[in-house]
Amino acid sequence: MQADVLVIGSGAAGLTAALLLADSRKVTVLSKVDTKSGSTPWAQGGIAAVSHERDTPEDHVSDTLTAGAGLCHEDVVRHTVMQGTWAIGQLIDWGVQFDLRDRDRDVRAGGEYHLTREGGHSTRRIFHVADSTGAAIASTLMQRAHQHPNIEVLENRVAIDLIVNKADNACVGVYVLNRASGLVEALQASAVILASGGASKVYLYTSNPDTATGDGIAMAWRAGCSVANMEFNQFHPTCLFHPHAKSLLISEAMRGEGGTLRLPSGEAFMERFHDAADLAPRDVVARAIDHEMKRLGIDCVYLDVTHFSRKLLQTRFPNIAARCATFGIDIAHDSIPVVPAAHYSCGGVRTDLHGQTDIDSLYAIGETAATGLHGANRLASNSLLECMVFARAAAEHILASTSQGAKMPEVPAWDESRVIDADEKIVVSHNWDELRRFMWDYVGIVRTTPRLTRALHRIELLRREIHEFYSSYRVDADLIELRNLVEVADLIVRSALRRKESRGLHYTLSFPETCKTAEDTLLTPGA
Ligand code: FAD
Ligand code: SIN
Repeated sequence: MQADVLVIGSGAAGLTAALLLADSRKVTVLSKVDTKSGSTPWAQGGIAAVSHERDTPEDHVSDTLTAGAGLCHEDVVRHTVMQGTWAIGQLIDWGVQFDLRDRDRDVRAGGEYHLTREGGHSTRRIFHVADSTGAAIASTLMQRAHQHPNIEVLENRVAIDLIVNKADNACVGVYVLNRASGLVEALQASAVILASGGASKVYLYTSNPDTATGDGIAMAWRAGCSVANMEFNQFHPTCLFHPHAKSLLISEAMRGEGGTLRLPSGEAFMERFHDAADLAPRDVVARAIDHEMKRLGIDCVYLDVTHFSRKLLQTRFPNIAARCATFGIDIAHDSIPVVPAAHYSCGGVRTDLHGQTDIDSLYAIGETAATGLHGANRLASNSLLECMVFARAAAEHILASTSQGAKMPEVPAWDESRVIDADEKIVVSHNWDELRRFMWDYVGIVRTTPRLTRALHRIELLRREIHEFYSSYRVDADLIELRNLVEVADLIVRSALRRKESRGLHYTLSFPETCKTAEDTLLTPGA
């Protein structure tokens, strides 16, 4: 199978790239489950961009740099912020209907968009569609992709490994498991874009969907790409704490609109931790909650929005209100029990301003990439913006450096002559659980060198077992994901051990101080 461009992932990053390429390239987009998979449809708060006269790009840059705790690449931050207007305009052109300030006034008749606020933002600058911004963006992009004659979307295809032509260090395709047939196919392309999302599923408790297993990061690493800042996992402060809620985010926009975090006693505690109280950067809030939970021996803290009017709850947070109601929580009357959970991979495959990786014709965009935008802690609602901006950068670079219908080299077929069907799956499911639990316990919000070292020993054992299993049995989706998760866990722990300081999301009791100079943690295969 051949395409001009192969995009691994059908989230905001992958579909934006596909749409920007498709007028002059044949594009194949893979999704490992269905087109609703990935984090994009789950995004709640919105997408950050400067738009009103009291806000400036300089302020957005400054908020991003502050949240990033000295590790953002300022040129990348400026590049991204300056394209905020383009990103919002493009989404509106494609059909996303962001909420208006006054529902009865059209923008064309002088109406304005409603902007919300989240932690770390000095002003309201977040465009949103109620509390389901991601779902609106995902469905709009997917609808357009389905309508485009040059875009083919293949569901239930799990990319396994990249095919790299070693002689010229160029990516020429991907091996992909077709879940329906159980067969592994070789897909060829002149350019491959990794847009497969993040890796928060490596933790036991996460706001992310099941697909967030770091496949793109692991594939790129195995193929020879360097990765950056893998130790910076963002923990979202407020996910619903309920025995039957697998992962329900309670958007930071609720605090942006005036929600308050409280202890069981009713005390509003965030002022003790930061001047911006409930709107402090996410790393600060998550750590404060973790601290209070450990200090008081409590299972959760509470987000109080009971002072919001019914109208505000219905217009701004209908999804969260309805989802909480299914767990018996009426958020107009009851405070919402919340805990932090793994939310976002700030690190990833190292790229330049075009989304290019260390391998020719291989790009990484969206949550898979480490562009330098987020530094040690991502500013809320900058992720969807980054997806758009770097999808555009990669698309433009591919259009300038490849041609349509280019001849492609032969690639070797997938070899399964030495493997058989697995006789039992318990090894895979046991190792999934074990990995995610010790990552939560040892590599979580507060770290220490002994805990990280313990995690590394366990990873080495799991690695060996999984490698043995992988070499002996036919692959399935669970095994592919587990192999990737253990790879990513290894990269996270090794990066965390290298950082001999606390900064942003990486907080370790073994090195509580922050060094004067901020340096990226770069890992390079074979180095
Ligand atoms: P995703 O949207 O995660 O898509 C990944 C795609 O890759 C999926 O289609 C998946 O099937 C596919 N895939 C993965 N592995 C493979 C494989 N091996 N083979 C084939 N396909 C594969 N950010 C904001 O800016 N604003 C918000 O309000 C916001 N809210 C959030 C709320 C929640 C609950 C979550 C979880 C995240 C939120 N984020 C938010 C973060 C943001 O949603 C994500 O970072 C962003 O959507 C990632 O987009 P992406 O295109 O990189 O990947
Ligand atoms: C949220 O709505 O709280 C999530 C926003 C984000 O992760 O950027």
